[in-house]
Amino acid sequence: MSYKSVIELNELKVLKTELTRFMMSYKFALDELNTKIDILRQEFQYIHDYNPIEHVKSRVKSPESILKKVYRKGYDLSLSSIKENIRDIAGIRITCSFISDIYELSELLQKQKDLRLIDYKDYINNPKQNGYQSLHLILEVPIFMSDRVEHICVEVQIRTIAMDFWASLEHKIYYNYNKEVPQKLVNDLKDTANSTAQLDKKMESIHKEMNKLKEAVSFEGNI
Ligand code: GTP
Ligand code: MG
Repeated sequence: MSYKSVIELNELKVLKTELTRFMMSYKFALDELNTKIDILRQEFQYIHDYNPIEHVKSRVKSPESILKKVYRKGYDLSLSSIKENIRDIAGIRITCSFISDIYELSELLQKQKDLRLIDYKDYINNPKQNGYQSLHLILEVPIFMSDRVEHICVEVQIRTIAMDFWASLEHKIYYNYNKEVPQKLVNDLKDTANSTAQLDKKMESIHKEMNKLKEAVSFEGNI
């Protein structure tokens, strides 16, 4: 093997290690945050006998999707630029039972000393034009590795089951029509988003009513 090819091979090896470490750091950030969420869920269940979290899904963006986003947004093709600009490489979606659970969970995460809030978008109080609702947080998570500490961004989307149902249908429609969605469907989706918001409000008020009754019964039982 020529001297030049040995150097090239070594460079490739270094690049491969760097890329693997880069992608792994996002997986570790998800592991950290998933543990935190699971602890909150278990603690809630034991102490309050109530579970505010319906389900949690997490994913690391594929290298192909990262590259597509780099080109779409015109970012620099370096690992440091990707880390700086693309904040949804690691993503967690939490589905809660009620809107109040969403804000409570968001507060509990923001209060944790080792997490730093980088961005906060409240699409519940300010839904998007198409009707999309969700609470989005970008949280920076410290990852302790053998030789350094990395700070990694994770996008956390928190929503109710109804909001999640709506978003997955909207995503399918958008995908199916390749961004040229007929006006009728756009309007129907917007109407459905309004019904979703109403349903969430009603469900929450029933839940609160039920809690009041439960408290009254246990109070009577105690005297
Ligand atoms: P991206 O650069 O596309 O990630 O969006 P952004 O930086 O403007 O962030 P934003 O917080 O608005 O959206 C982030 C993510 O939320 C998206 O990648 C989707 O997963 C979800 N999302 C945002 N808007 C919509 C929407 O209108 N419909 C659906 N189904 N999902 C949405
Ligand atoms: Mg995204």
